Amino acid sequence: MKAVIPVAGLGTRMLPATKAIPKEMLSVVDKPMIQYVVEEIAAAGMTDIVLVTHASKNSIENHFDTQFELESTLEKRVKRQLLEEVRSITPRGVNIMHIRQGQALGLGHAILAAHPVVGDDDFVVALPDVMIGQQRSDSTCDNLAAMIRRFNINAACQIMVNSIPVSQVSKFGIVDIQGNNLNPGSFARVEALVEKPDVQQAPSNLAITGRYVLHRNVWKILQQVQPGFGNEIQLTDAIDQYLAAGGSIEAYHVMDRAYDCGSKLGLAVAYVEHALQHKDIGADFAVHLKSLCRSTD
Ligand code: G1P
Repeated sequence: MKAVIPVAGLGTRMLPATKAIPKEMLSVVDKPMIQYVVEEIAAAGMTDIVLVTHASKNSIENHFDTQFELESTLEKRVKRQLLEEVRSITPRGVNIMHIRQGQALGLGHAILAAHPVVGDDDFVVALPDVMIGQQRSDSTCDNLAAMIRRFNINAACQIMVNSIPVSQVSKFGIVDIQGNNLNPGSFARVEALVEKPDVQQAPSNLAITGRYVLHRNVWKILQQVQPGFGNEIQLTDAIDQYLAAGGSIEAYHVMDRAYDCGSKLGLAVAYVEHALQHKDIGADFAVHLKSLCRSTD
C-alpha cells in the first residue's frame, strides 16, 4: 500500500513561523515534524510515500534528497554519526514521490491529486501535523500497523480517533459510534462522520486524528464529492459518503499520545515531551524543567 501525505497547506495557524518555512519543517527537538511522520509510515511497513505538495514547499523535497556537499564535508571531517543521521533521513528502502496540488481546494482535493501516482489501489493517508508519540520505552504499540492489519482482515476503512474535550469538537472531524465506549487500541464500527460539527450537534468526542487506511473505492467518491465545511472538498465527507453507499468504516482509538502539531500549544507540548525522551538531552532537560516548575510554584 502507498501512503499519501498532503503537505500543500499554507500553515496559517502557525504564522508568523510559517511565513517562509513550511509548517511540516518546523522542528520537534532535532528533526522536522514531517520526518517523524515518514519514520512512522516506514515503521508500519510501507515503502512508497507520495507527498502532495506546493511551490512553497521545496525545502521538504530537499530534506529527503541527497545533499552531496554536506555529505562529503561530513565525510572529510570524519563526522560518522552525523553522516549516518543525514543519510538515514529517508529510511532505507523508502521511495518518496512528489506531486503538486494545482489549486488549494481542501484536504479531499489534495488527496485526490495523488490518485495518478497511487492508482486504483487501497491507500493510507497520514496528515503531517499529527504526530503519534510512543511514550513508553517498552511500548509494543504500533497504531498504524494495527490499522493496516485490521484492514487486511475485514476490508473496512480504518480511521484513527482520539478522545478530546467536548469543547474542542468543532475543530476536528468527529465520528459517530452510536454512543459506544472506545478504549485505546480498540476498534468500533462507525455509523457516520461529520467535519467540524457544533458542540451541540457532535455525535461523540472522538476526533479524527490524521491517520486513515482507505479502500480503493473511496477514490471514485473523492472525484464527485462537493465542497462542504469551509467551502472545501473534505476527506471526511467522502468517507461519510462511502459509508452511506454501503462501505464499512471502523474507528481505531490511538494508543499513547497524539500531538496536534498544527497548533501552537500542540507543537509546544510535542516539543517538551520529545525533549524529555531524547537520548542526549532528556535527563538534563528534565532537571531544568523541574527547577523551572519549582521556581514558578
Ligand atoms: C483535518 C481533517 C479533520 C481532522 C483533522 C486532524 O482538519 O479534515 O477531520 O480531525 O485534520 O487530523 P484540519 O486540521 O486540516 O482542519
